[in-house]
Amino acid sequence: MSVRRLAAVQPESFAFTPENAAWADRQIAKYPEGRQASAVIPLLWKAQEQAGGWLPEPAIRAVAEKLGMAHIRVLEIATFYTMFNLEPVGRHFVQLCGTTPCMLRGAEELKEVCRRKIGPERHVTADGALSWLEVECLGACANAPMVQINYDYFEDLSPEVFGKILDDLAAGRPVTPGSQNGRQMSAPLGGPTTLTDPALYERPAPTKGTSQEVPDLQAAGRPSTAAQSPGDPLGAASAKEEKAINGKDSREKREAVAATAQDNSPDVTGSKRVGPKTGTGVRDPEE
Ligand code: FES
Repeated sequence: MSVRRLAAVQPESFAFTPENAAWADRQIAKYPEGRQASAVIPLLWKAQEQAGGWLPEPAIRAVAEKLGMAHIRVLEIATFYTMFNLEPVGRHFVQLCGTTPCMLRGAEELKEVCRRKIGPERHVTADGALSWLEVECLGACANAPMVQINYDYFEDLSPEVFGKILDDLAAGRPVTPGSQNGRQMSAPLGGPTTLTDPALYERPAPTKGTSQEVPDLQAAGRPSTAAQSPGDPLGAASAKEEKAINGKDSREKREAVAATAQDNSPDVTGSKRVGPKTGTGVRDPEE
């Protein structure tokens, strides 16, 4: 990770467009009074989008003023998070993952392609089309090596394919994000290799009148005393209890569920339960 500094050359000023200012107001309104600072990340992100992919210092100040925050607090956030670019980037900003899985799968060769076609890291091509930066893991390691270009991931790259993508972007030709070697998302190349037997997905028809159809409700912690049958595994009594419980608020529901469980719990002593319930699910020692 390199030191993150503000660009030496900065614009004079920054102001949100009316449309973006209205968007910012909607974000701020999501938070309670006095907590407007919680909207700082989305507002910085919108400012970066408006400024062409990077955050000029006046934009950082504009966000601070909109949120009533000290400038230094917003500057700290902008310089901490690497998703905020502190200097101009190309229209197609390449973030190249150089972390171990991508490195082992050829990220170094991709860096060479960047150097050859774009120039050194952070350099913006003369036409403003491309710039690149090495970043840490982007979370697509299964499809290494990969890069992110603006909002899209390009995965399973080879130097040749990646070079062509950069050429197409520079020439304004469309490119297709995603895996570049034909695999579906991060599935194995050539399709699935396990769990391929269709018999695994066939459901055996239930046998009428056998205990197979009745779930083990007692083991699942459900009331067990209700009348059960294959067509009514919960039993009519249990259904009535559930209906009564569903009409209550959440605290009442919890209490009702606990009471129902206690009513229906088996008496391990084999003797008849007598006396009041404690309401806690624990037998009263005085009973
Ligand atoms: S290591 Fe490159 S995406 Fe994770």
